[in-house]
Amino acid sequence: MKILVLTAHPDLNKSRINRSWFKAFAETDDITVLDLTRVGGPTMSFNVEEQQQLLLSHDRIVFQFPFYWYSAPPVLKAWQDQVLTYGFAYGPGSKKLVGRELVLAISTGGPEDSYHAGGYNNFSMDELLKPFQQTALMTGMTYLRPFVFHGLAVVAEAAMEASIATLLAHIQDPELNPLIKKARMDKLLENDAELAARVSA
Ligand SMILES: Cc1cc2nc3c(=O)[nH]c(=O)nc-3n(C[C@H](O)[C@H](O)[C@H](O)COP(=O)(O)O)c2cc1C
Repeated sequence: MKILVLTAHPDLNKSRINRSWFKAFAETDDITVLDLTRVGGPTMSFNVEEQQQLLLSHDRIVFQFPFYWYSAPPVLKAWQDQVLTYGFAYGPGSKKLVGRELVLAISTGGPEDSYHAGGYNNFSMDELLKPFQQTALMTGMTYLRPFVFHGLAVVAEAAMEASIATLLAHIQDPELNPLIKKARMDKLLENDAELAARVSA
């Protein structure tokens, strides 16, 4: 599986977590990583043809970013607006991204318990990330379960370090795709009558 990571951080040199994730991606086989801020430059302008070809030569696309005002930093929006064009990403008979996968890798300042009903951020990450989920749907990509690392404001150095391996395993896991996971579960049930009886009971 070829993975393309698009990193959207305004300044990786000042980053605590996204920089270490970026570095780990860059050192891993079968992962292409792109610092969108460097590629787009101060005007956030992208070579559309080049970016579209990159998408087409990978199976799984990762948007990696720090959570800024409940969304991504503006360079990712600039990239989306320029690259996901009519006739390429959507439009009748011309959805070139159909069948590819989209997964988000996000760091937040707020702790995990704040991203629930009743928490101080009120809404869950799944709720706040709906525009990305719908973008995947609109373009025919399969939206995968996001990786979210919470609490940069309070988290210990060791937890940040440990997140690198967890994140790498997450984005490389074929079973993140719900269809692949479901197929394995179905096979298990098919071959195990006792398990099947328990599940259907
Ligand atoms: C402009 C700005 C907006 C932010 N908005 C949020 C937010 O909406 N929710 C949140 O949990 N953290 C927010 N944060 C905190 C960042 O998510 C956190 O600093 C970042 O994940 C750290 O990543 P880094 O070390 O790679 O820079 C914000 C930070 C900045 C600078």
